Amino acid sequence: MSKADNLKDFLDLAQWSRSELGALLDLAADLKAVPEKFSQALAGKSLAMIFKKSSTRTRVSFEVGMFQLGGQAIFMSSAHTQVGRGEPLKDTARVLSRYVDGIMIRTFDHAEVETLAQYATVPVINGLTDFLHPCQVLTDIFTIKERLGLDLGDFDGLKIAYIGDGNNMANSWINAALRFGFDLKIACPAGYEPDAALLAQVNRQSSGSGRVAVFLDPLSAAKGAVVLNTDVWASMGQEDEARERRQVFAGYQINEKLLKIAAPDPLVLHCLPAHRGEEITASVFEKYQDLIFTQAENRMHVQKALLVTLLNR
Ligand code: CP
Ligand code: NVA
Repeated sequence: MSKADNLKDFLDLAQWSRSELGALLDLAADLKAVPEKFSQALAGKSLAMIFKKSSTRTRVSFEVGMFQLGGQAIFMSSAHTQVGRGEPLKDTARVLSRYVDGIMIRTFDHAEVETLAQYATVPVINGLTDFLHPCQVLTDIFTIKERLGLDLGDFDGLKIAYIGDGNNMANSWINAALRFGFDLKIACPAGYEPDAALLAQVNRQSSGSGRVAVFLDPLSAAKGAVVLNTDVWASMGQEDEARERRQVFAGYQINEKLLKIAAPDPLVLHCLPAHRGEEITASVFEKYQDLIFTQAENRMHVQKALLVTLLNR
Protein backbone atom coordinates (compact mmCIF):
# COMPACT_ATOMS: atom_id res chain seq x y z
CA MET A 1 0.00 0.00 0.00
CA SER A 2 1.18 3.51 -0.67
CA LYS A 3 -0.15 7.00 -1.07
CA ALA A 4 -1.13 8.08 -4.56
CA ASP A 5 1.35 10.53 -6.13
CA ASN A 6 -1.11 13.41 -5.92
CA LEU A 7 -1.56 12.99 -2.15
CA LYS A 8 0.71 14.59 0.43
CA ASP A 9 1.10 14.63 4.21
CA PHE A 10 1.78 17.60 6.48
CA LEU A 11 4.01 16.19 9.22
CA ASP A 12 6.89 18.63 9.20
CA LEU A 13 7.42 22.11 7.66
CA ALA A 14 10.73 20.83 6.33
CA GLN A 15 8.89 18.48 3.93
CA TRP A 16 7.24 21.42 2.17
CA SER A 17 9.04 23.93 -0.05
CA ARG A 18 8.96 27.67 0.55
CA SER A 19 6.71 28.19 -2.46
CA GLU A 20 4.31 25.44 -1.37
CA LEU A 21 4.10 26.98 2.11
CA GLY A 22 3.66 30.41 0.52
CA ALA A 23 0.72 29.06 -1.52
CA LEU A 24 -0.85 27.74 1.71
CA LEU A 25 -0.48 31.17 3.33
CA ASP A 26 -2.06 32.90 0.31
CA LEU A 27 -4.96 30.45 0.33
CA ALA A 28 -5.40 30.96 4.09
CA ALA A 29 -5.66 34.73 3.53
CA ASP A 30 -8.31 34.13 0.87
CA LEU A 31 -10.20 31.74 3.15
CA LYS A 32 -10.12 34.31 5.95
CA ALA A 33 -11.27 37.16 3.69
CA VAL A 34 -14.00 35.34 1.73
CA PRO A 35 -14.92 32.13 3.62
CA GLU A 36 -18.24 31.74 1.79
CA LYS A 37 -16.36 31.14 -1.47
CA PHE A 38 -15.17 27.82 0.00
CA SER A 39 -18.35 26.69 1.76
CA GLN A 40 -18.63 23.52 -0.37
CA ALA A 41 -14.90 22.98 -1.06
CA LEU A 42 -14.87 19.72 0.94
CA ALA A 43 -18.52 18.70 0.58
CA GLY A 44 -18.91 15.02 1.44
CA LYS A 45 -15.35 14.71 2.83
CA SER A 46 -14.43 13.50 6.31
CA LEU A 47 -11.44 14.11 8.54
CA ALA A 48 -10.62 11.70 11.40
CA MET A 49 -8.89 13.41 14.34
CA ILE A 50 -6.90 11.16 16.71
CA PHE A 51 -6.00 12.78 20.03
CA LYS A 52 -3.64 11.08 22.49
CA LYS A 53 -3.08 14.47 24.20
CA SER A 54 -5.46 17.23 25.28
CA SER A 55 -6.43 20.11 23.02
CA THR A 56 -8.74 23.11 22.83
CA ARG A 57 -7.59 25.10 19.78
CA THR A 58 -6.46 22.24 17.54
CA ARG A 59 -9.59 20.20 18.04
CA VAL A 60 -12.09 23.03 17.66
CA SER A 61 -10.32 24.80 14.78
CA PHE A 62 -10.04 21.61 12.71
CA GLU A 63 -13.59 20.53 13.53
CA VAL A 64 -15.19 23.90 12.77
CA GLY A 65 -12.90 24.29 9.75
CA MET A 66 -14.12 21.03 8.20
CA PHE A 67 -17.74 22.04 8.88
CA GLN A 68 -17.24 25.45 7.26
CA LEU A 69 -15.80 23.73 4.16
CA GLY A 70 -18.89 21.54 3.80
CA GLY A 71 -17.30 18.41 5.30
CA GLN A 72 -17.21 16.78 8.70
CA ALA A 73 -14.65 15.91 11.37
CA ILE A 74 -14.68 12.88 13.64
CA PHE A 75 -13.10 13.29 17.08
CA MET A 76 -11.28 10.13 18.21
CA SER A 77 -10.01 10.44 21.76
CA SER A 78 -7.57 7.66 22.65
CA ALA A 79 -9.64 7.12 25.80
CA HIS A 80 -12.70 6.07 23.79
CA THR A 81 -11.26 4.26 20.77
CA GLN A 82 -9.22 1.12 20.20
CA VAL A 83 -6.19 3.39 19.69
CA GLY A 84 -6.07 3.78 23.48
CA ARG A 85 -6.30 0.01 23.97
CA GLY A 86 -3.19 -0.62 21.92
CA GLU A 87 -4.50 -1.29 18.40
CA PRO A 88 -1.42 -0.63 16.26
CA LEU A 89 -1.45 2.70 14.44
CA LYS A 90 -0.51 0.92 11.23
CA ASP A 91 -3.85 -0.93 11.45
CA THR A 92 -5.77 2.20 12.47
CA ALA A 93 -4.20 3.97 9.46
CA ARG A 94 -5.42 1.29 7.05
CA VAL A 95 -8.89 1.12 8.56
CA LEU A 96 -9.43 4.88 8.64
CA SER A 97 -8.17 5.18 5.06
CA ARG A 98 -11.17 3.06 3.99
CA TYR A 99 -13.59 5.55 5.60
CA VAL A 100 -12.18 9.07 5.58
CA ASP A 101 -10.35 11.50 3.28
CA GLY A 102 -7.71 12.67 5.76
CA ILE A 103 -6.36 11.99 9.27
CA MET A 104 -5.15 14.51 11.83
CA ILE A 105 -3.21 13.16 14.80
CA ARG A 106 -1.88 14.62 18.06
CA THR A 107 0.39 12.29 19.97
CA PHE A 108 3.62 11.99 21.95
CA ASP A 109 6.15 10.15 19.80
CA HIS A 110 6.76 11.70 16.39
CA ALA A 111 7.57 8.26 14.99
CA GLU A 112 3.90 7.31 15.51
CA VAL A 113 2.82 10.07 13.13
CA GLU A 114 5.33 8.84 10.58
CA THR A 115 4.03 5.28 10.91
CA LEU A 116 0.46 6.49 10.52
CA ALA A 117 1.42 8.42 7.38
CA GLN A 118 3.35 5.45 5.99
CA TYR A 119 0.35 3.13 6.28
CA ALA A 120 -2.46 5.59 5.50
CA THR A 121 -3.49 5.99 1.89
CA VAL A 122 -5.05 9.37 2.72
CA PRO A 123 -3.17 12.55 3.78
CA VAL A 124 -2.02 12.76 7.40
CA ILE A 125 -1.66 16.04 9.30
CA ASN A 126 0.54 16.43 12.39
CA GLY A 127 -1.53 18.19 15.07
CA LEU A 128 1.46 18.18 17.50
CA THR A 129 4.02 15.67 18.67
CA ASP A 130 6.75 15.94 21.31
CA PHE A 131 9.05 16.89 18.42
CA LEU A 132 7.06 19.31 16.24
CA HIS A 133 3.98 21.54 16.04
CA PRO A 134 3.92 22.58 12.37
CA CYS A 135 0.27 23.74 12.16
CA GLN A 136 0.94 26.21 14.97
CA VAL A 137 4.15 27.65 13.57
CA LEU A 138 2.76 27.98 10.04
CA THR A 139 -0.11 29.92 11.65
CA ASP A 140 2.39 32.08 13.53
CA ILE A 141 4.11 32.95 10.24
CA PHE A 142 0.70 33.78 8.76
CA THR A 143 -0.07 36.01 11.76
CA ILE A 144 3.23 37.91 11.49
CA LYS A 145 2.75 38.34 7.73
CA GLU A 146 -0.81 39.57 8.24
CA ARG A 147 -0.06 41.94 11.13
CA LEU A 148 3.05 43.49 9.55
CA GLY A 149 1.73 43.41 5.97
CA LEU A 150 4.75 41.43 4.74
CA ASP A 151 5.41 39.64 1.48
CA LEU A 152 7.16 36.29 1.68
CA GLY A 153 10.46 37.91 0.64
CA ASP A 154 10.26 40.33 3.58
CA PHE A 155 10.97 37.44 5.97
CA ASP A 156 14.58 37.37 4.76
CA GLY A 157 16.67 38.49 7.71
CA LEU A 158 13.67 39.42 9.89
CA LYS A 159 14.68 39.12 13.55
CA ILE A 160 12.51 36.68 15.48
CA ALA A 161 13.23 35.59 19.07
CA TYR A 162 11.96 32.51 20.85
CA ILE A 163 12.38 32.56 24.63
CA GLY A 164 11.93 29.34 26.62
CA ASP A 165 11.96 25.59 26.25
CA GLY A 166 13.67 23.96 23.24
CA ASN A 167 10.51 21.94 22.66
CA ASN A 168 8.16 21.08 19.78
CA MET A 169 7.48 24.79 19.16
CA ALA A 170 11.17 25.70 19.11
CA ASN A 171 11.93 22.82 16.73
CA SER A 172 9.19 23.89 14.33
CA TRP A 173 10.41 27.49 14.52
CA ILE A 174 13.82 26.24 13.39
CA ASN A 175 12.23 24.49 10.39
CA ALA A 176 10.35 27.69 9.60
CA ALA A 177 13.53 29.81 9.77
CA LEU A 178 15.19 27.54 7.21
CA ARG A 179 12.17 27.73 4.90
CA PHE A 180 11.28 31.42 5.22
CA GLY A 181 14.78 32.84 5.71
CA PHE A 182 14.34 34.82 8.94
CA ASP A 183 16.96 35.11 11.69
CA LEU A 184 15.85 33.04 14.65
CA LYS A 185 17.41 33.66 18.05
CA ILE A 186 16.47 31.12 20.68
CA ALA A 187 17.15 31.58 24.42
CA CYS A 188 16.92 28.50 26.63
CA PRO A 189 18.64 27.11 29.73
CA ALA A 190 21.54 24.68 29.27
CA GLY A 191 20.21 21.19 28.80
CA TYR A 192 16.89 22.40 27.37
CA GLU A 193 18.07 23.23 23.86
CA PRO A 194 16.08 22.31 20.74
CA ASP A 195 16.61 18.94 19.07
CA ALA A 196 20.34 18.33 18.59
CA ALA A 197 20.01 16.68 15.16
CA LEU A 198 17.91 19.59 13.94
CA LEU A 199 20.48 22.10 15.19
CA ALA A 200 23.26 20.15 13.49
CA GLN A 201 21.28 20.28 10.25
CA VAL A 202 20.86 24.03 10.70
CA ASN A 203 24.60 24.49 11.09
CA ARG A 204 25.14 22.64 7.83
CA GLN A 205 22.40 24.42 5.91
CA SER A 206 22.09 27.98 7.13
CA SER A 207 24.13 30.54 5.37
CA GLY A 208 23.02 34.09 4.70
CA SER A 209 19.37 34.25 5.64
CA GLY A 210 17.66 31.63 7.77
CA ARG A 211 20.27 31.78 10.52
CA VAL A 212 19.50 30.12 13.83
CA ALA A 213 21.41 30.94 17.02
CA VAL A 214 20.93 29.58 20.52
CA PHE A 215 21.70 31.76 23.55
CA LEU A 216 21.70 31.22 27.30
CA ASP A 217 20.77 34.84 27.94
CA PRO A 218 17.19 35.89 27.01
CA LEU A 219 18.28 39.53 26.59
CA SER A 220 20.84 38.57 23.93
CA ALA A 221 18.18 36.67 21.99
CA ALA A 222 15.57 39.42 22.32
CA LYS A 223 17.83 42.31 21.33
CA GLY A 224 16.35 44.08 18.30
CA ALA A 225 13.74 41.35 17.74
CA VAL A 226 10.67 42.32 15.73
CA VAL A 227 8.81 39.29 17.07
CA LEU A 228 9.05 37.79 20.56
CA ASN A 229 7.62 34.34 20.96
CA THR A 230 7.33 31.93 23.85
CA ASP A 231 5.66 28.73 25.03
CA VAL A 232 5.02 26.93 28.30
CA TRP A 233 7.95 25.78 30.43
CA ALA A 234 6.44 22.30 30.89
CA SER A 235 4.72 20.77 27.88
CA MET A 236 2.06 18.08 27.82
CA GLY A 237 3.65 14.90 29.14
CA GLN A 238 6.12 16.84 31.34
CA GLU A 239 3.72 17.55 34.19
CA ASP A 240 5.97 15.69 36.66
CA GLU A 241 8.83 18.06 35.83
CA ALA A 242 6.77 21.24 36.23
CA ARG A 243 8.12 22.13 39.66
CA GLU A 244 11.75 21.66 38.70
CA ARG A 245 11.21 23.47 35.41
CA ARG A 246 9.77 26.51 37.22
CA GLN A 247 13.19 26.91 38.87
CA VAL A 248 15.29 26.13 35.80
CA PHE A 249 13.31 28.47 33.54
CA ALA A 250 12.91 31.39 35.97
CA GLY A 251 14.14 34.38 33.97
CA TYR A 252 13.14 32.92 30.59
CA GLN A 253 10.10 35.13 30.56
CA ILE A 254 8.62 37.71 28.19
CA ASN A 255 8.34 40.77 30.40
CA GLU A 256 8.71 44.57 30.19
CA LYS A 257 12.50 44.33 30.37
CA LEU A 258 12.56 42.07 27.32
CA LEU A 259 10.13 44.29 25.43
CA LYS A 260 12.43 47.28 25.99
CA ILE A 261 15.44 45.59 24.43
CA ALA A 262 13.46 44.32 21.41
CA ALA A 263 12.75 46.43 18.31
CA PRO A 264 10.29 49.31 18.84
CA ASP A 265 6.68 47.99 19.05
CA PRO A 266 7.57 44.30 18.70
CA LEU A 267 4.93 41.64 18.15
CA VAL A 268 4.44 39.19 21.03
CA LEU A 269 3.13 35.74 20.13
CA HIS A 270 2.01 32.87 22.34
CA CYS A 271 0.61 29.60 20.97
CA LEU A 272 -1.47 29.09 24.17
CA PRO A 273 -2.33 27.85 26.70
CA ALA A 274 -0.39 30.50 28.67
CA HIS A 275 0.92 30.42 32.22
CA ARG A 276 0.92 34.01 33.40
CA GLY A 277 3.81 34.74 35.74
CA GLU A 278 5.88 31.94 34.18
CA GLU A 279 6.84 32.28 30.49
CA ILE A 280 4.99 35.61 30.15
CA THR A 281 3.87 38.25 32.63
CA ALA A 282 0.16 38.93 33.01
CA SER A 283 0.64 42.56 31.94
CA VAL A 284 2.52 41.72 28.72
CA PHE A 285 -0.04 39.02 27.93
CA GLU A 286 -2.94 41.44 28.31
CA LYS A 287 -1.14 44.16 26.34
CA TYR A 288 -0.89 41.76 23.40
CA GLN A 289 -4.10 39.82 23.92
CA ASP A 290 -5.65 40.98 20.64
CA LEU A 291 -2.70 39.68 18.64
CA ILE A 292 -2.47 36.44 20.66
CA PHE A 293 -6.15 35.64 20.20
CA THR A 294 -5.95 36.57 16.50
CA GLN A 295 -3.09 34.07 16.33
CA ALA A 296 -5.42 31.46 17.88
CA GLU A 297 -8.19 32.37 15.40
CA ASN A 298 -5.75 32.06 12.51
CA ARG A 299 -5.21 28.39 13.32
CA MET A 300 -8.57 27.79 11.71
CA HIS A 301 -7.91 29.78 8.53
CA VAL A 302 -4.48 28.23 7.99
CA GLN A 303 -5.73 24.70 8.68
CA LYS A 304 -8.65 25.22 6.29
CA ALA A 305 -6.05 26.06 3.64
CA LEU A 306 -4.22 22.85 4.50
CA LEU A 307 -7.42 20.80 4.36
CA VAL A 308 -8.50 22.27 1.01
CA THR A 309 -5.03 21.64 -0.40
CA LEU A 310 -4.59 18.10 0.95
CA LEU A 311 -8.09 16.61 0.89
CA ASN A 312 -9.35 18.10 -2.35
CA ARG A 313 -7.36 16.04 -4.80
N1 CP B 1 -1.83 25.89 20.56
C1 CP B 1 -2.45 24.70 20.59
O1 CP B 1 -2.11 23.78 19.86
O2 CP B 1 -3.50 24.64 21.45
P1 CP B 1 -4.28 23.33 21.90
O3 CP B 1 -3.32 22.50 22.71
O4 CP B 1 -5.43 23.86 22.72
O5 CP B 1 -4.74 22.60 20.70
N1 NVA C 1 4.78 22.87 23.92
C1 NVA C 1 3.37 22.80 24.24
C2 NVA C 1 2.55 23.33 23.11
C3 NVA C 1 1.08 23.35 23.38
C4 NVA C 1 0.28 23.85 22.22
C5 NVA C 1 3.02 21.35 24.52
O1 NVA C 1 3.49 20.46 23.80
O2 NVA C 1 2.28 21.10 25.48
